[in-house]
Amino acid sequence: MERKEDQQKEEEDIVCLDESFFINDNYQLTTFTFGSQVIQLFCLHSASTDFDLTGQLVWPGAMLLNDYLSKNDEMLQGCSAIELGSGVGITGILCSRFCRDFVLTDHNDEVLKAR
Ligand SMILES: C[S@@+](CC[C@H](N)C(=O)[O-])C[C@H]1O[C@@H](n2cnc3c(N)ncnc32)[C@H](O)[C@@H]1O
Repeated sequence: MERKEDQQKEEEDIVCLDESFFINDNYQLTTFTFGSQVIQLFCLHSASTDFDLTGQLVWPGAMLLNDYLSKNDEMLQGCSAIELGSGVGITGILCSRFCRDFVLTDHNDEVLKAR
C-alpha cells in the first residue's frame, strides 16, 4: 500500500514540459531604417540557439547587407532573387521593394511564425 502511495506521489511530482517551454516567442514589433527605407517587423532582441532559432532576430550581417543594398538599390532593379535562411526576413523585405520578384525561404517553423 505504501509503495503504491509512493509511486502515486512520484507521478504527481513529475513535471512534463513540451518544447514550447524552451521557446521564446515574445516577438516585438521593431522598426529598422536603411536610408529612406523603413521596415517594421516582428522579431526578438536577443538570440536563442535552442532548436536552431537563430532566425528569430535580425543579425548584424543583415544590417550591414541592408545598409549596402539601400545605398546601391540600382543593382536590384528588375531582378528576381531568392533568400535562403531569411529568418524574420529583413533583407528579403528590403529587396522586394526594388526587385521584380523576391522569394524568402527558411526551414524553421518557429521562425516562420514570426512573420
Ligand atoms: C543566423 S540566421 C540568419 C537570419 C537572417 N538571414 C539574418 O541575417 O538576420 C540563419 C537562418 O537560416 C535558417 N536556415 C538554416 N539552415 C537552413 C536550411 N537548410 N534551409 C533553410 N533555412 C535554413 C535558420 O532557420 C535561420 O533562420
